[in-house]
Amino acid sequence: MANKKTPDLMDKLVSLCKRRGFIFQSSEIYGGINSCWDYGPLGVELKNNIKQLWWKSMTQFRDDIEGLDASILMHPQVWITSGHVSSFADPMVDCKNCKMRFRAEEVQGTKCPNCGGELTEARQFNLMFKTHMGPVEDDASVVYLRPETAQGIYVNFLNVLAPSRQKPPFGIAQIGKAFRNEISPGNFIFRSREFEQMEMQFFIHPKEDDKWIEYWKEERMKWYHSLGIKKENLRFHQHDKKELAFYAKKAFDIEYNFPFGWKEIEGIHNRTDYDLSRHTQASGKDLSFYDDQTKERFIPYIIETSAGVDRSLLVCLLDAYHEEVVKDEERTVLKFDPKIAPIKAGVYPLVKRDNMPEIAKKIEDLLRPHFKVFYDEGGAIGRRYRRQDEVGTPFGITVDSQTLQDQTVTLRERDSMEQTRVKIDDLVGILNKKIWGIEK
Ligand code: GAP
Repeated sequence: MANKKTPDLMDKLVSLCKRRGFIFQSSEIYGGINSCWDYGPLGVELKNNIKQLWWKSMTQFRDDIEGLDASILMHPQVWITSGHVSSFADPMVDCKNCKMRFRAEEVQGTKCPNCGGELTEARQFNLMFKTHMGPVEDDASVVYLRPETAQGIYVNFLNVLAPSRQKPPFGIAQIGKAFRNEISPGNFIFRSREFEQMEMQFFIHPKEDDKWIEYWKEERMKWYHSLGIKKENLRFHQHDKKELAFYAKKAFDIEYNFPFGWKEIEGIHNRTDYDLSRHTQASGKDLSFYDDQTKERFIPYIIETSAGVDRSLLVCLLDAYHEEVVKDEERTVLKFDPKIAPIKAGVYPLVKRDNMPEIAKKIEDLLRPHFKVFYDEGGAIGRRYRRQDEVGTPFGITVDSQTLQDQTVTLRERDSMEQTRVKIDDLVGILNKKIWGIEK
């Protein structure tokens, strides 16, 4: 069994995603809109599974992180206070000839990479999308689509602190859309203008910042391992002084080995007391914390873990993509960890007679309350298996003539393609064990 990883992997993946209903270009029937993507039936399942695993790891499996869902539109002062209005900008250059626009850091020399034309001087380009609130489109009604979810957490610090009865060290987690008017989006869903973030802000005593950034580095790396991402494809990159964001004291990226190079999938930042201090000054609301036990008042430092949902999903797809030759036949298989697989099991009658479809339908009914399953009776069984291999379904359950006699079925494993006989009554328990590692 050979595995081929080819340089045109991205093209193959984009095509598979379209063909099998993972990801489509937005507004395709009108020619599409650049850098916006729609998630189809399988894409949204995969995305929800990833988000749910993140959410559980943050808010269910530990008692020191609370959840939040803040609105996308916020008071415009938030973005002035945070520094985004003045500083959330990329230097860009325009080609005077073909009018293409590039991030200045992408261009080597003074000529346009597209047509060789003359380039303008670099100018700062703010990445925030603006819109207007209410019926009048004037400066007073300007609001921004949030470029990060983090600010929704900072401005709700006191609102969460009081009812949750937490005290530092504790965190607030949020998943939601963010928008950036990127100068050069690209690489499929890697850099788009509308995307989703999974952000957690951990509020700590300032003296403990080194300890907690190390802790969260390790925790977050473990999370990617738990999704089944190969360890050799992940690494840390520490920001040097030039790379550090204006608010950060120390920062690490978790990077993935994409076909287009090692790139960031998550940032882990020590944002110090920058955010809470700035919002305290600008709003007049005291966002410091008073510790009853130590009788100390301090503005918490924040260790932020900021992951992209779409980038995590792209990583899951790329890492899972395999082309193999099995017994002289090629197969494409997405070797997802069963936890994230959009469909957990395919259910098949071997043939469309002898009561096999009816039994298979009953098995589908038995499994559906527990797992997302797919029933398929069309075509040769080998082809049905291959179709599900290509979308990463980890298990195949087949009703055959022996089922009619002893109430057993074959259970096929996607990666090894091995088949074992199991009792229909044991299926839920067996699948739970294989997917979640525990009896449910
Ligand atoms: N609150 C901090 C923050 O937003 P960031 O490094 O700018 O930090 C965090 O973004 C993560 O959000 C990135 O690691 C990436 O996964 C995702 N992200 C940022 N810009 C993106 C874009 N244009 N398209 C897709 N994902 C993006």
